[in-house]
Amino acid sequence: MTSSQEKVTFLMLLKNRNFLKLFLAQTVSSLGDWIGVIAIAVFAQRIGGTTAVGAVMTARVLPGFIAGPIAGVIADRWDRRKTMMVADLLRGAIVFSLPFFPTLAYLLVASMLLESLTLVWGPAKDASLPHVVPQNHITHANSLNLIAVYGPWPLASLVFFLMAQLAGFLSHAVPALEGLAGNEDSLALWVNSLTFVFSAAMIYTLSLPASRRRVGKLDFGEVKRDLVEGLQFIKNDHQVRPWLLGIAFTFTAAGGVFSLGVGFVDDVLGGGPRGFAFLIGFLGMGMIAGLLSVGIISKKLHKDVIFSAALVFLGAGLVALASMNSLGPTIPIAAALGFCGGAAYSTGYSLIHEKVTDDLRGRTFSAAYTVIRIGTLVGLGLFPLFAGAIGDNTLTLPFATLDLPGSRVTLWFAGLFAVGGGLLSMRAITHRGGKGQSSSNEDLEGYFVVFEGGEGAGKSTQIAAFVEWLEARGADVVTTREPGGTEIGSRVREVLLDKGATEMDPRAEALLYAADRAQHVAQVIRPALAEGKVVVSDRFVDSSLAYQGAGRDLGIDEIAELSEWATGGLMPDLVFFLKIDPSAGLERAGADPDRLESAGGDFHQKVAAAYLELAARFPQRIVVLDSSQSKEQVHEEILRAYGERAGKHVPETTLARDFAPPGPPMPR
Ligand code: TMP
Repeated sequence: MTSSQEKVTFLMLLKNRNFLKLFLAQTVSSLGDWIGVIAIAVFAQRIGGTTAVGAVMTARVLPGFIAGPIAGVIADRWDRRKTMMVADLLRGAIVFSLPFFPTLAYLLVASMLLESLTLVWGPAKDASLPHVVPQNHITHANSLNLIAVYGPWPLASLVFFLMAQLAGFLSHAVPALEGLAGNEDSLALWVNSLTFVFSAAMIYTLSLPASRRRVGKLDFGEVKRDLVEGLQFIKNDHQVRPWLLGIAFTFTAAGGVFSLGVGFVDDVLGGGPRGFAFLIGFLGMGMIAGLLSVGIISKKLHKDVIFSAALVFLGAGLVALASMNSLGPTIPIAAALGFCGGAAYSTGYSLIHEKVTDDLRGRTFSAAYTVIRIGTLVGLGLFPLFAGAIGDNTLTLPFATLDLPGSRVTLWFAGLFAVGGGLLSMRAITHRGGKGQSSSNEDLEGYFVVFEGGEGAGKSTQIAAFVEWLEARGADVVTTREPGGTEIGSRVREVLLDKGATEMDPRAEALLYAADRAQHVAQVIRPALAEGKVVVSDRFVDSSLAYQGAGRDLGIDEIAELSEWATGGLMPDLVFFLKIDPSAGLERAGADPDRLESAGGDFHQKVAAAYLELAARFPQRIVVLDSSQSKEQVHEEILRAYGERAGKHVPETTLARDFAPPGPPMPR
């Protein structure tokens, strides 16, 4: 178990054997991918000229529209490890076969298949990451993953060059290989296919839990349902949707930079092709710096703030860069752009990992891939047309003449586009509230606070003080508890806590808690939230996740699904977890333990560990408080966290002194 406070380092990640395998698989297959991009372009040029190169590039982009969403369903439904291995082996076989069928038609079909398989591999890999590293390592892991994908890029042209040289040499030196003469790209393609085999081998040795929703045979009805469910989630989620919009806008701008950058640096900045390579070098270094430092920045700032700010700065930087007239001043700007790009990429991925539950993750990542591809394509295709249509102009002002080449105006426009994406993504911040998983209570006006903790953690005392504080400031509060928040629930509670019911099966127990919760949500919580009230509950879903999911070993994800069904997806806005050493807590709880309190020390240790794991997994929802502090200190922390997070539900009469000692009177 890793606590969220622990200091995470890149070295720690690389010492994690499972992560190292995934990292190596990615680095080596990315190297292969980049070599493949060059070799396939050369190969296409050889068999069909420039038109063939254009056709192959289009064939690589097209599958994104169709295969993208289906790839996500595959990643969520089939065993992810096997999915990755099969995709790798198929990619290896296709690339290997290319030199044997030198026709354009084969190359086009192969390119589409390759791209589709890459689209399957990526979301399966991204969705697996949380099973390979603990939640609080995800940001660092995403940074390393990005380095694994783009880092080998410069190396690829070198390897391609060496392979072509080697092929030329072998064609003369080894009679059996004389066919390589004039086909020097073949060797590079075969090396590429080997990298996929290497990746498959690494993934074979990876230990990943089998996907929960694995199915035996193909059922198109279910695939369709998954597809619709994924698209609806992305369309309706108040955080994922703005993030994806931000990503789409930024990659559209990036497409513009790819297509206009070389021309701009050459014509306007007078830098020549080498000038462009130089700028890209600084951009790359900035990006690596951004990726490496994002973990530190995210300790001070919320990730969604970093993400949106990085996108806005990225756009503004692009506008600044396009305003320059010589290469010199663009160098620091390019480095800053890279920094923002790296920071945005890494935080964007981490946000999606944190926000989305495992069963939707593959589909969400594949949506991200799809918008990245479509955005880039639109940028690549449209911006040059736009630049051409504007043409080169000059603006004569009374005191000076301004050069307005088409590429500059278009890059300004692209920059503003990225700024727009950044601003749109900010809408996610206002919906932060922390619905850790689904968010179907977002249309409810009220605010839902839950207190959680093991036995004897002092929840009742803190709830009483908190509610008293809220009510004293005019808030309309409903105080309730689980189990037993309703008439029916009270009867369920009696059964659950009855010391005599020793024969109760864990599943029966989980269902009874879920039954109590369903009644509680329908009868008390949802109506109160609909009326805009603040609901404060002693325990909710997280109790079931910790006690039944972990304590009774029924599985946290399984219990989450059960609870989600019972509540219709309603989740707390804010959870205060009062942390206490289980043995001390049980002692405090009293001399007459109920059925759960008498479940044994081992059980309560598991519960305590699970709470901490949940807190690390859903930091936006759960606040951990140390119960060994004085009651006043804990109360003050509660008020502070509520003040920071509850937005319009913080009573207007709250004064600065509310947060300063001496605290309000504590009920004894
Ligand atoms: P309490 O109201 O005194 O905290 O007692 C409720 C007991 O029920 C406590 O031991 C925790 C346990 N519990 C679960 O095991 N699962 C649940 O979902 C809930 C709400 C409580």
